[in-house]
Amino acid sequence: MYQVNENYLKLPGSYLFSTIAKKVAAFAEANPDKEILRLGIGDVTQPLCPAVIEALHKAVDEMADPATFRGYAPDLGYDFLRNTIVEKDYKARGCDISADEIFISDGAKSDSGNIQEIFGACSKIAVCDPVYPVYVDSNVMAGRTGIYDATTETWSDVIYMPTTKENGFVPEKPDKRPDLIYLCLPNNPTGTTLTKDQLQEWVDYANKEEAVIIFDAAYEAYIAEDDVPHSIYECDGARTCAIEIRSFSKNAGFTGLRLGFTVVPKDLKAGDVCLRDLWARRHGTKFNGAPYIVQRAGEAVYSPEGKAQTDEQIAYYMRNASVIRNGLLDAGYEVFGGINAPYIWMKTPDGMKSWDFFDHLLENANVVGTPGSGFGPSGEGYFRLTAFGTYENSVAALERIKAL
Ligand SMILES: Cc1ncc(COP(=O)(O)O)c(C=O)c1O
Repeated sequence: MYQVNENYLKLPGSYLFSTIAKKVAAFAEANPDKEILRLGIGDVTQPLCPAVIEALHKAVDEMADPATFRGYAPDLGYDFLRNTIVEKDYKARGCDISADEIFISDGAKSDSGNIQEIFGACSKIAVCDPVYPVYVDSNVMAGRTGIYDATTETWSDVIYMPTTKENGFVPEKPDKRPDLIYLCLPNNPTGTTLTKDQLQEWVDYANKEEAVIIFDAAYEAYIAEDDVPHSIYECDGARTCAIEIRSFSKNAGFTGLRLGFTVVPKDLKAGDVCLRDLWARRHGTKFNGAPYIVQRAGEAVYSPEGKAQTDEQIAYYMRNASVIRNGLLDAGYEVFGGINAPYIWMKTPDGMKSWDFFDHLLENANVVGTPGSGFGPSGEGYFRLTAFGTYENSVAALERIKAL
């Protein structure tokens, strides 16, 4: 009989958002008269902006003409998009990144899940706790995380770096030396960030320890404060220790269109081995490119119109974030995030467990959020609300929460 990859069997429970969906469906069925307001999942609600739609239409027309039809995309992605990224995301911020270090993909989830493949099976990973679950789960699938302890909800071979209100949401350097350090900034789920000086310390630490930082900057577009870096390459020495992952999902609403990219600098080397070449090999073998029409849509995000229109969408979501944040503060809750990120991270009242607060909010306010414990053990006692809903729903949800 064939065998399955037994590492998959080690993955605990069902995926956080399926559990939430099941609970919400059961509540809706039992209470058909109740209007449920969803501030749970991190999906956008605003439609694609006009500049993107126009680029999509134009690219579709090109695909209908034999003279302009495109088949397989180049391995790393089209030059028009990679050159635009170099100019607008990197050169404009003083970062030294070239087009052949940029790999266009179908999004940050695949890249952040797949990047571990180019590292050795025994690599030790360090993650912030709480954190976007993909980093740990993809390493579980690869057999890198040891044994799961259901009581502490931790893996024996994963280094957890608590990021909680006690340390001001600044992860501390681990006691044990990690090989791979996952940093997501601005962070999902806490909505918090590091200043440039704080991130520089991580870059210096990674260079000293000969570790690699996998820097997920999916929420970069939401940064509002000046001393928060948009790219890890704003830090000195990041070219020798950091891989950066970006997405078009949250800045331009591409969650259903799918586009992202990963930057692997040529200076990132394990001895003589250039990680950029390994990722190029992996990309060329296992990925056949993001669609031409989607890459043209991505290019349009950087046009003056696209930039203005997507900035407007971000401002819309961040207005929701203020409504949620200020509403919770008015109601006496302890609140974090929501300033440089579309996530608001709150402490549950009276030491309530995260899932108990989920039930409480669903039953009494008919509002859906995400239990903090779903993002890691240090998320227990916290709760995440997202600003990705409509303004009207955000206002209505907060009115209900305030009335509890
Ligand atoms: C931290 C983080 N990285 C990556 C992603 C996924 O991005 P994409 O839609 O580009 O796959 C998400 C989505 O919620 C996220 O929160």
